[in-house]
Amino acid sequence: MNKILTDRPGPMLYPVPAVMVSCGTMEQSNIITIAWTGIVNSDPPMTYVSVRKSRFSHGLIAESGEFVINLVTADLASAADFCGVRSGRDMDKFEKAGLTRQAGDQVKAPLIAESPVNLECKVFDVKELPTHDMFLAEIVAVHIDETLKDEAGAYHFEGLDLVSYNHGHYYPVSRRPFGRFGYSVMKPKTKRRLNRQKQKDAADK
Ligand SMILES: Cc1cc2nc3c(=O)[nH]c(=O)nc-3n(C[C@H](O)[C@H](O)[C@H](O)COP(=O)(O)O)c2cc1C
Repeated sequence: MNKILTDRPGPMLYPVPAVMVSCGTMEQSNIITIAWTGIVNSDPPMTYVSVRKSRFSHGLIAESGEFVINLVTADLASAADFCGVRSGRDMDKFEKAGLTRQAGDQVKAPLIAESPVNLECKVFDVKELPTHDMFLAEIVAVHIDETLKDEAGAYHFEGLDLVSYNHGHYYPVSRRPFGRFGYSVMKPKTKRRLNRQKQKDAADK
């Protein structure tokens, strides 16, 4: 493989999620689409969103210290794009994108009812960076569509049709995984047991 050294370094880390972040209050709310997000700590769960100061949402998040990350499925991809190219200064994006506000449990910002997974977040630090402010936040409550939970209490995200963002384009996350966590070092015996379980689950459906 021959590589080109780019003229200057850029944020070429892909794929990343594209999420809809709701902020404000039930009465005065907004949605901003965010790709610069991720998990920074497991326990307690912590995340961040990096938001340009010029965004309308920046003021809302800075003022309230709260936001909600709403995962985006294929059905919501167009709404997510819309919320990423229009400003809440000019319109009610919930209304324009046909989305529904749902009251949160721990924060005043609304959840997006149509999103199957919502992470309520409380900001604990703001790191001012040259182009963006990075709002570091604790995930204080998580809402998950009940149909994603199996009888054993495990959550299944594989059928969710989540969206990823890759250098300017939205892509579906495939339903067919290459393998599960640790598959590269899995013992053949464990592989066989999991395959048997998979076949049994398929037959039971
Ligand atoms: C896929 C996608 C990802 C985006 N990621 C970010 C981001 O991480 N941070 C940011 O400040 N703006 C990001 N934007 C731009 C904002 O979503 C956009 O400027 C939006 O209109 C701001 O809305 P607001 O003015 O209502 O806050 C992204 C836009 C798109 C379409």
